[in-house]
Amino acid sequence: MFLCIPIPGPGLDSVRSQMTQALKLGTMIEWRLDLFEEIATEELLFLRRHYPLPIVATLKKHRTHFYLRHLQQLQPEIVDVELGIRREEMAEIKKELPHAHVMLSYHDHLHMPEDLNSLLHDMQQLSADYYKIAVTPHNAVEALKLVNFVREVNRVGGTLVGVGMDADGEIARLLAPIMGVPLTYACLDESCQTAPGQLSVDTMRNIYRVQDLSFDSQILGLIGDPVSKRRGYLVHNDVFEQLSLPAVYVRMRINGHELGAFLQEARALKWKGFSVTMPLKETVIPYLDKVDPAAKAIGAVNTIVWEDEQYVGYNFDGIGALEAIEAKRRVKGKLFIVVGAGGAAKAIAYEAKQRGATVVVVNRTYDRAKALADKLSVTVQPFQELQKLLQEADFLAQTTSVGMGHGNEETLITPQDLSKETLVFDAIAIPTETRLIRDAMFRGCEVVTGDKMWLEQARRQFSAWFPGVFSERKILDAYELANSRQP
Ligand code: ATR
Repeated sequence: MFLCIPIPGPGLDSVRSQMTQALKLGTMIEWRLDLFEEIATEELLFLRRHYPLPIVATLKKHRTHFYLRHLQQLQPEIVDVELGIRREEMAEIKKELPHAHVMLSYHDHLHMPEDLNSLLHDMQQLSADYYKIAVTPHNAVEALKLVNFVREVNRVGGTLVGVGMDADGEIARLLAPIMGVPLTYACLDESCQTAPGQLSVDTMRNIYRVQDLSFDSQILGLIGDPVSKRRGYLVHNDVFEQLSLPAVYVRMRINGHELGAFLQEARALKWKGFSVTMPLKETVIPYLDKVDPAAKAIGAVNTIVWEDEQYVGYNFDGIGALEAIEAKRRVKGKLFIVVGAGGAAKAIAYEAKQRGATVVVVNRTYDRAKALADKLSVTVQPFQELQKLLQEADFLAQTTSVGMGHGNEETLITPQDLSKETLVFDAIAIPTETRLIRDAMFRGCEVVTGDKMWLEQARRQFSAWFPGVFSERKILDAYELANSRQP
């Protein structure tokens, strides 16, 4: 697959400097002749000779005639023409440029057409070497439909270029190698972007490693809403690179009502696995083929694995937290206080109990804590008892959202109430050092931060997606290194 770098110009100087940058990076360039100012053919010919990269020359209807005269001298490898071009014009291009491949393109900057099959069929009424469908999906389901369609067409031949525009089309750009496209576009930087949502060469290469992927690479990803601020994809992709694994990890914004249709498209792709985040951890369960007993008991899933053609749900949140905590001290037989009654609280209380701790749950809303405690057969206490409980607590696990976000100085726990014997864990990962964690350190407590929980659950996800391929030591080292490299 060629990574094609658009050269938007518009003046000769900018064309030259963009080509100089592209030469260092690219495998192919696109001259957006429709955007160029009128640059003399001799100048373009000079550039053509001095920059030895294959060229896609893109024409738009109103300029076709003007440039056709010059293209005969320039001899681009590919000529990109817009659907709607007249049959005679197409014949003229083929006659003038007998050695060039012709790509016939369709653009929809507003929608994704319902019926891609008949669109392609209509396009094929004009004979071309390549066809390009650049459309605007409005959600991840539409984007995956595009991916599946293009992949199926390219299963034999590889002549269809599929491009997803705008934010929801991103996935169809990242999965280009898996779609079997002959080329895909990536810009030098934002100032050279020629289509909405176009990603930079740097992002495509250095984060998602499209050059290492192929038609048969594995796809992993995060689903939830919002996902744009999540950084886990950087860690997972870094690990795949370290382990030379032909796999890519992407992020997708998905709502509960889209889950059914989304997973149906994912099945067609044999999508290897997902991380699941809010608000889907509970709502995803009915769409899965199987749910691991622990995840069932917790009532939430944070990991999905494609196993024997089935989607199986797991929950590694509790294991992640407890592994991070037990790296410091064992919880067996100890008093373990959980503050909060949401999904994280449930997973952590469940796992602490499994490991033999005496678990007590407190929460602002008593009834939620009571329901959780009843379900997991642990103890519940009113929130007002927290101060007293903290005098004897061996472990405190803070699982609420209080203190979340950079600059957030809120905490539910008065520093004076903390005993230095208590190990304090905060499930919040951003910031790593919450107010609670700083207060606890000041009191002399041992602390465990939420990023450690994330890391532990991430490597368990990896082991579930790729069982038995690498040793646990190797996975652990790769995740620790990847995590330390993130900003
Ligand atoms: P998650 O599933 O991410 O763990 P959740 O289901 O939204 O989160 O639950 C958030 C937890 O934070 C709840 O325990 C919530 O308390 P309530 O059950 O009383 O709502 C707790 N929480 C959020 N904001 C809080 C606040 N300002 N004070 C005390 N508890 C708070």
